[in-house]
Amino acid sequence: MDLIENLNWRYATKKFDSEKKVSSDKLNYILEAARLAPSSSGLQPFKIIVVTDQAIKDQMKDISMGQSQVVDASHVLVFASWDHYSLERIESVFNYTLKERGLPLDTMDDYKKNLWGMYEPLGTDWHAQHAAKQAYISFGIAMVAAAEQKVDAVPMEGFIPEKMDELLGLKAHGLKSAFLMPIGYRDEANDWLVNMKKVRTPKNDFIIEM
Ligand SMILES: Cc1cc2nc3c(=O)[nH]c(=O)nc-3n(C[C@H](O)[C@H](O)[C@H](O)COP(=O)(O)O)c2cc1C
Repeated sequence: MDLIENLNWRYATKKFDSEKKVSSDKLNYILEAARLAPSSSGLQPFKIIVVTDQAIKDQMKDISMGQSQVVDASHVLVFASWDHYSLERIESVFNYTLKERGLPLDTMDDYKKNLWGMYEPLGTDWHAQHAAKQAYISFGIAMVAAAEQKVDAVPMEGFIPEKMDELLGLKAHGLKSAFLMPIGYRDEANDWLVNMKKVRTPKNDFIIEM
């Protein structure tokens, strides 16, 4: 199947079959696609928390506007981004990259100085938003990878981030929850959206040619 067919197949699953679990092969494929996402300056300022513990998934429901997907999904992927940038965090990523490439650790000193000079005055709220934007790129790729594997998924912003952070202890990791991606298999018989037409802005409205 080609990409467009897969994108037409996927939909924001409203009801998962709680009996059906995603295999570790498919899960790892989705996570690897997410890991390979590009990010600004290559910082990858986010992590993915993979939640399978049913007790944690159950507790997620109340803080996710009662949405049942978090309970019934095989896995809930939580994309959590850095709560702020710091010179230490930037340095740690750059040093790792330089080591992996066998380059001297001072190779990126000017770049690093300029980047931090730009980021520092923008403040931690801007940092957190910028980091979350990087996570969204990875999330888009993960959604496509899931569709390619015929794994159902729902992108979810409908939750209270502060409470999710508390439930998962994210503050201790310097992270904030950005969005959730429950994955699993659709419950065809009980999902009101499964057979609905996919609706998008018509192409002639969507594309502006210049
Ligand atoms: C950032 C984002 C947040 C979303 N939050 C939720 C959510 O909390 N719950 C939900 O059921 N769907 C959520 N959706 C799904 C959208 O409503 C859905 O993707 C959109 O209506 C298009 O439909 P489709 O994905 O089925 O093609 C979200 C989608 C995105 C991209």
